[in-house]
Amino acid sequence: MAKKVSYKQLGLVNTKKMFAKAVKGGYAIPAFNFNTMEQMQAIVQAAVETKSPVIMQVSKGARKYANPTILRYMAQGAVEYAKELGCANPQIVLHLDHGDSFETCKSCIDSGFSSVMIDGSSKPYEENIALTKQVVEYAHKFDVTVEAERGVLAGVEDEVSAAESHYTKPEEVIDFSTRTGCDSLAISIGTSHGAYKFKPEQCTRDPKTGKLIPPPLAFDVLHAIEEKLPGFPIVLHGSSSVPQDEVDTINKFGGKLPDAVGIPEEQLREAAKSAVCKINIDSDSRLAMTAAIRQHFAEHPDHFDPRQYLTPARDNMKKMYIHKIVNVLGSNDKL
Ligand code: G3H
Ligand code: 13P
Ligand code: ZN
Repeated sequence: MAKKVSYKQLGLVNTKKMFAKAVKGGYAIPAFNFNTMEQMQAIVQAAVETKSPVIMQVSKGARKYANPTILRYMAQGAVEYAKELGCANPQIVLHLDHGDSFETCKSCIDSGFSSVMIDGSSKPYEENIALTKQVVEYAHKFDVTVEAERGVLAGVEDEVSAAESHYTKPEEVIDFSTRTGCDSLAISIGTSHGAYKFKPEQCTRDPKTGKLIPPPLAFDVLHAIEEKLPGFPIVLHGSSSVPQDEVDTINKFGGKLPDAVGIPEEQLREAAKSAVCKINIDSDSRLAMTAAIRQHFAEHPDHFDPRQYLTPARDNMKKMYIHKIVNVLGSNDKL
């Protein structure tokens, strides 16, 4: 276990100021998950080159895969790396994604996270409130910001599973945010985790390409929530677009991802202009990495040095992160 340290000593920031600026400015902060050094490097390079604030987030699965202490030091390394790349004042948040208990949140806060999510979305309303409030009370003592969730996304939220999506109820959000004191709220308006966000029967098909066209997000629910909580930071999980060129590359070079489908980027662009100020992207990074590696192995069957195939993988992730920042979320030039 890493020794107790404040995120401020590590050069990280919480989400407070960056969310306030993003809501006012009509853009969203990218929240990219990371598990590996290459993802971390690509995220930092992309953020520095585009002059964007960035949230680097760590799931329970990432903590298990990479080790919590290593991830925390990687985030500290990210700040120093950003400075080395020429960014005098990096705005980097280290965020716990889908925290499932008070203990996990506390352990992250104690070891240098600047922001945590407590995901009580699968719990009954009052239980979600009580758990979120407990985390907020602890986190705020250390100036750590807290994301909560109300409404359930379809699919699997780490260990929070739901057979179907239950949209957030706009009539609950004032009570929920006031009683918990949370700093931001993740809502459900039709996004979901992973590379298969909709079943083919929920979509229509483009007659020319045969590709799936997903149903639109519930913007009416988003707007009703914004009306109840004007200016309050809203978060969208499950917001990968599942770029079809990456899916095609994966399938061309031996992969099998039939009918993988994500959230169209125009819809994310529209959401980013509203009170949605944090957009979570993980699957697109996995796809970019896997596509580059599959292609590399197909073209260079003699290669076995990980640096040979992880270099194009890192470059492809960086390209994707830059594209999201500049063309979808609009968080470039906001430092
Ligand atoms: O919300 C889910 C994130 O994509 C993290 O996924 O639990 O497989 O690390 P993971
Ligand atoms: P995607 O699976 O759409 O990338 O969502 C990631 C996410 O919400 C992480 O919390
Ligand atoms: Zn999520």
